[in-house]
Amino acid sequence: MCGIIGYTGPLEAKKLLLEGLAGLEYRGYDSAGVAFFDTDSHIRLIKQVGKVASLKEAMSKIKEDSHCGIGHTRWATHGGVTVENAHPHQAGRVTLIHNGIIENYHQLTEEFCLEGKLKSQTDSEVAAWVLDSLYEGDPLEAIKNLVHRLEGTYGFCILFADRPGEIYAVRKVSPLVAAYTHSGAVIASDLTALIPYTQKYFVVPEQEIVRLTPYKVQTYNLETFEKTSPEIMTVNWNLDAAMKNGFPHFMLKEIHEQPEAMKNTILPRLNRGIPDFSDDRIPDSLFAECSQVHIVACGTAMHAGMVAKAIMEPLLRIPVTVTIASEFRYQDPLVDERTLAIIISQSGETIDTLAAMTLAERLGAKTLAIVNVKGSTIARESQYVLYTHAGPEIAVASTKAYSVQLAALYMVACRMALVRGKYTEEQAKAFFSEFLDVIPAMEEMIERKEEMKRVVTHLINSPDAFFIGRGLDYAFSLEGALKLKEISYIHAEAYAAGELKHGTIALISDQVPVIATATQDVLFSKMISNVREVKARGAFVILLTKEGAEVDENLADVHLTIPAVKDQFTVFPIAVVLQLIAYYASLGKNLDVDQPRNLAKSVTVE
Ligand code: F6R
Repeated sequence: MCGIIGYTGPLEAKKLLLEGLAGLEYRGYDSAGVAFFDTDSHIRLIKQVGKVASLKEAMSKIKEDSHCGIGHTRWATHGGVTVENAHPHQAGRVTLIHNGIIENYHQLTEEFCLEGKLKSQTDSEVAAWVLDSLYEGDPLEAIKNLVHRLEGTYGFCILFADRPGEIYAVRKVSPLVAAYTHSGAVIASDLTALIPYTQKYFVVPEQEIVRLTPYKVQTYNLETFEKTSPEIMTVNWNLDAAMKNGFPHFMLKEIHEQPEAMKNTILPRLNRGIPDFSDDRIPDSLFAECSQVHIVACGTAMHAGMVAKAIMEPLLRIPVTVTIASEFRYQDPLVDERTLAIIISQSGETIDTLAAMTLAERLGAKTLAIVNVKGSTIARESQYVLYTHAGPEIAVASTKAYSVQLAALYMVACRMALVRGKYTEEQAKAFFSEFLDVIPAMEEMIERKEEMKRVVTHLINSPDAFFIGRGLDYAFSLEGALKLKEISYIHAEAYAAGELKHGTIALISDQVPVIATATQDVLFSKMISNVREVKARGAFVILLTKEGAEVDENLADVHLTIPAVKDQFTVFPIAVVLQLIAYYASLGKNLDVDQPRNLAKSVTVE
């Protein structure tokens, strides 16, 4: 969602801000803007609706240098996509950018009599005017008084007209990371905007104010203004990881990176062939003492949870529940001290997932977060964290993060089975050695990508597509449908194949594409009957099976096979197939593969 960048130092700030905003584009946005001190120490403001490229165009007319400024990409929440609503917002001596939502902006508008002053429809501008009213020459005092009045979430970067060269920042929930580098001070909502300048950074602590000057970055306790020293962290990936490196799209690059991401996530955690989380400081007691598992996540991460349920429940013989994070809070969930809550999030910042985790913890659950972004809020606030090592995922459509989330969940399932006496050491070892076959299977499917490219010629002309499967195949189908709809805009739904006859089959008519996954031996013949049913109604069937499966020649219009890994593990090569189908469908329709409309990479509002 919205992105923030701020810089002060000897370099040309406008260039750096534009580069930073380009680095944040992947988060999703619909307008962009910058504010900077000009050579006369006046603040200049430039905002544009649309892409960062049009902001760049507008800024190319400004010839003078600047060494301090802030930039923002906005994903509209309060108020439409207009220049007025784009950030930064200027109010008297204050110019600010804001991520998050100020919930009490109505009351503040009344209390500070702002009605006639507001130029935009945003809650952020209200905060700017309140800060201006509170400002009497001391930025720390004014910011403290502002945040005491705010309800909601925020990450602010602020310029004061009488403080050229300085940037102030404060946050609650919305992430901000900052660094002092040999060429100045940088702050951003996201590490991807920082890594061109530094590998060392800190997460701006809540309840602290940051002051950036060309010579220093200093944090202060919000109440006492005492200086503080946040923990310095090191980025665990380099700039290359956030570049396309010759691939036409981030999504295709990230699909290709999956085997490597799997190895990075799994191999360091294998001890004599068995998953071991000692280095992650996750004790076996966490797995031994729970009486149920509750998995909470959103979107693709939630789909990884659905697969985990299908693996864990029969193995562990305890209830495993999967809940959409945005629903969790409103269900009065059955969570207690003996619940292991597994929270899954690539970004570690999804607000609904964070809120669900906080509730689970309040209800007494032990929380284990499976997170990709190091130092993110969910990673910091969970009791235990199991990092996936996918590296930065830039394309909005999640691919490699899904595979490594699954890998982490399979590892947890295996460790739990061992510590709960469901597996002997030999069985755990055997499970895992067979599991590792998925990596070459994924590599093979990536190699065979042309097959998937050919499949989409039929799909792209259809308004709808249906994904069907049974058991685990149904769990993967959910993800296949999500991938297709989010980047190709084809209406795609996944159904448990046995449910078709209870309504959905009414939608199957001539040439409607049906992507049928049949990789589970025990369900194979039932699944094939379902395929016959849709074929009999004219569907265009794309059938996915393991190599060697016996399939009548006329059953499917297209038959794709994956290597014959064990049934429990077919999700990994199938994920590659479904991701590539979605990728080529989007490409075939000439759409923006990496930044689909209306979507944001990290969903930081409810
Ligand atoms: C879809 C996709 C989303 C995310 C969801 C959760 O391709 O990426 O559905 O999976 O928004 O995001 P994280 O994992 O960052 O919590």
